[in-house]
Amino acid sequence: MPSDATAPRKRLLIRTWGCQMNVYDSARMADVLAPLGYAPTETAEEADMVILNTCHIREKAAEKVFSDLGRLRVLKEEKAARGERMILAVAGCVAQAEGAEITARAPHVDIVLGPQTYHRLPEMVARAARAAGAVIETDFPAEDKFDHLPDASQPSGPIAFLTIQEGCDKFCSFCVVPYTRGAEFSRPAAAVLSEARRLVDGGAREIALLGQNVNAWHGAGPEGRTWGLGRLLRAMAAIPGLARLRYTTSHPRDMDDDLIAAHAELPQLMPFLHLPVQSGSDRMLRAMNRGHAADDFRRVVEKLRAVRPDIALSSDFIAGHPGESDADHAATLALIREVGFAQAFSFKYSARPGTPAAGAGGQVPEPVKDARLAEIQALLRGQQDAFNRSRAGMLMDVLCTGPARHPGQMAGRSPWLQPVHFDAPARLAGHLVPVRITAAHPNSLAAEWLGAGATTPPLQQEIRAA
Ligand code: SAH
Ligand code: SF4
Ligand code: F3S
Repeated sequence: MPSDATAPRKRLLIRTWGCQMNVYDSARMADVLAPLGYAPTETAEEADMVILNTCHIREKAAEKVFSDLGRLRVLKEEKAARGERMILAVAGCVAQAEGAEITARAPHVDIVLGPQTYHRLPEMVARAARAAGAVIETDFPAEDKFDHLPDASQPSGPIAFLTIQEGCDKFCSFCVVPYTRGAEFSRPAAAVLSEARRLVDGGAREIALLGQNVNAWHGAGPEGRTWGLGRLLRAMAAIPGLARLRYTTSHPRDMDDDLIAAHAELPQLMPFLHLPVQSGSDRMLRAMNRGHAADDFRRVVEKLRAVRPDIALSSDFIAGHPGESDADHAATLALIREVGFAQAFSFKYSARPGTPAAGAGGQVPEPVKDARLAEIQALLRGQQDAFNRSRAGMLMDVLCTGPARHPGQMAGRSPWLQPVHFDAPARLAGHLVPVRITAAHPNSLAAEWLGAGATTPPLQQEIRAA
């Protein structure tokens, strides 16, 4: 394989939308193109190749791609006038969903590639450089892209992401993911563990395991038997130097007892879980084909809180799914009040082509969706404020991610994923350090560093005392 040093220097810009799996994929696309001489750049003007890694989940996200493509066309033409070539690629879920439609709307696009074909990118670039027409690859190849991608490069900081599962077989009424990412697929445990060890060797102290349905992961274990996520997390926790573990995004249906038990056993597993519920109304959950009732969600939360009293929850909510009545909406607000969330995402229902809900009766008028979303968001915002305020005065370890914007300040992450800022020397970057929270803001916490020798009590003890 030619090395960076011998290959001609070319510049690559990757723009990423959507979920963390796209963030992970973008890093892997950069890895796969590095041996061809592509080094990263931040600006499109400088770029010899631009990849838009796109998201199809809501209409707004998908439309942004086309406005970006419009701007890039002008740049590409200017470059062509100077005799320079810019390769333009559209990757991710819009590429998968729209395929050749993209080049029909934007003929200046050279490559359209779906999420399962990233390992073929070097070959596609070579073909695009030779050919006049666009190269389109949106099939779900038989080979596993993970087997054909090079080893992930070093993590860029102490927090690393690792995709362990892709795709979805659940077919919620509103969602494009089963179509854009294909059937559920789990990477084998050995592959995940060796990638995790490499990340830790490269400086990662925290790893977030990723998957569209990460807790549906069921990979081959080293001894030939299938493991569940609880088992994998226990093996991950045994990696020396790995201080923190998370996983996202989970489905309430796949929160099995073994996984819940892992939350009791593993101090590395952080007390924060993103568990989308979408609605508090059983009627809506049925219409959404979620496969769980509101009470199933409540029971999972109860079990988690019983084994890990300091666990905080995040979730996703959709306002205005077809058929949603005022009473259904009220049930969602009631569930939010009852459970209490540390933070959450909420979205206005967006009809996606090809999904069952898009063609369903009872579409909710835009102003009604707007009003419901505003109510949900006001409630969630209040809960997030209250949660952040409840951390004030608390002692906790913070993982230092690097210098903050103000000189002399360090930025880090709390166990609950809150950004934390405090005065501390830059050499602490990458370390877990003890702090006391001095003030809570809506989206972050202020703290004081307790110094090198200080220790913090175990989290659960601190919560009980608070
Ligand atoms: N796999 C995860 C979520 C994937 S998509 C899960 O099962 O929960 C992330 C979030 O986008 C979803 O949880 C949902 O709240 C939201 N979403 C998905 N499709 C949507 C649509 N058509 N309109 C509005 N929000 C949507
Ligand atoms: Fe989409 Fe539902 Fe699958 Fe989540 S579980 S990715 S919401 S279809
Ligand atoms: Fe978007 Fe695809 Fe992720 S649709 S949310 S980028 S799986």
